[in-house]
Amino acid sequence: MQATAQIGVTGLAVMGRNLARNFARHGYTVAVHNRTPARTKALVEEFGHEGAFVAAGSAEEFVAALERPRRLMIMVQAGAATDAVIEEFAPLLEPGDMIIDGGNAHFADTRRRERSLRERGIHFVGAGVSGGEEGALNGPSIMPGGSPESYASLGPMFEKISAKVDGEPCTTHVGTDGAGHFVKMVHNGIEYADMQLIGEAYDLLRQVAGLSPAAIAEIFRDWNKGRLDSYLIEITAEVLSHVDAATGRPFVDVVADAAGQKGTGRWTVQTALELGSPVTAIAQATFARAASGQSALRHAYRGLPGGTSWDLTPYEAQRFTAQVEQALYASKVIAYDQGWKMILDAAEEFGWEIDLGAVAKIWRGGCIIRAAFLDRIRAAYAADPGLVSLLSDTGFAAEIKDAQVPWREVIATAARRGVPVPAFSAALSYYDSLRADRLPAALTQGQRDYFGAHTYRRVDREGSFHTLWGTADRAETQA
Ligand code: 6PG
Repeated sequence: MQATAQIGVTGLAVMGRNLARNFARHGYTVAVHNRTPARTKALVEEFGHEGAFVAAGSAEEFVAALERPRRLMIMVQAGAATDAVIEEFAPLLEPGDMIIDGGNAHFADTRRRERSLRERGIHFVGAGVSGGEEGALNGPSIMPGGSPESYASLGPMFEKISAKVDGEPCTTHVGTDGAGHFVKMVHNGIEYADMQLIGEAYDLLRQVAGLSPAAIAEIFRDWNKGRLDSYLIEITAEVLSHVDAATGRPFVDVVADAAGQKGTGRWTVQTALELGSPVTAIAQATFARAASGQSALRHAYRGLPGGTSWDLTPYEAQRFTAQVEQALYASKVIAYDQGWKMILDAAEEFGWEIDLGAVAKIWRGGCIIRAAFLDRIRAAYAADPGLVSLLSDTGFAAEIKDAQVPWREVIATAARRGVPVPAFSAALSYYDSLRADRLPAALTQGQRDYFGAHTYRRVDREGSFHTLWGTADRAETQA
């Protein structure tokens, strides 16, 4: 077989197939391969007219079809399947060749694979790809990690096939080894938080303001014209206005209220715990999905006393709606700030140089959390690349200041009425914790010292101290 393909894609389920088509539509010759050859055949038969495909029947044929240095993209299930495919292809490759994993792999696996393939002279690039099947075909947001050399070769191709915002591609070299998959994981954690916050806003408008799903859809359409303008708000309006054909009821009322997850949100929270990154809104969003699926527990709790309810006048409902917009926006700023800080923490831990402004830039288009808001974050980092928090930016700080009363009122109303707002509350508590002069962590330290002699530091002197709690005079010793 002649080596004519600039890129090869193995694993032709919907994401792999659409990425292969996207490359072909941009003028690249694409070698395609799948474990079951029928899929390869079907792709070429159905979409062969879109560009130049080379259908490979075997791993050897696939590798032989690739120009050197070879670029081989694997689009298979994360975990053991990815390791198996790597082991199938790596022995057929030569030093300088590249394997790109475009699946949702755990970044720790990516780091391990990168290390072991580097020893064999092969570049391994973990590339987060966001945007679902539609994005894969028409322009995703691509978050590649791996070596700078591999990005020099792959970057121009990714830049071509990715989404564009203001003519700029939604891809960049995120950082070395697993940085791309890490950032993709945090993207998904933020996605969970964003979705949960939107869900809580909907629930409040329904339960407190007494609005119908169709009326709430209109509110989301309206919000989508303002600072909340985003893909997730847009699709929320679509889902809420959809009517179930079989029953004539709002679609949202016929869907079982137990949220699934493939696990990237869970990974974000697990990793955050290890890094000590307090991503509380993301964690609450992940736990909210888990709680929704606890059917026996929900059955046991159902009917227990809750808050008091009262009807709002149309004027009050309108006022409340505006307050929910403020609360949603403020909570969203916090959730994103948590995600950004987690990336900073990881960059320090793993030695990555991640340009946080560039991350905002490549999330403006193509990905699930794409939003006008991300351009604001990009601009904030452009003004100050060393930004510790989004709230250090004067624009965001001013908005959070304006949101104070409505944000707190919405959460207080939710508590009074018994409407669950775990992510809204987590965001506000995070804000209040971090802006506090003093935290009860001092008491925690005292308790730890009392029962376990764990020692504490003092505000007025350097060093590590222990109080002899069991003695009459409770003398203090210095460790
Ligand atoms: C994307 C999505 C995508 C997917 C995840 C999350 O960026 O295109 O995040 O990766 O939707 O699988 O889905 P779960 O809700 O099932 O975890």
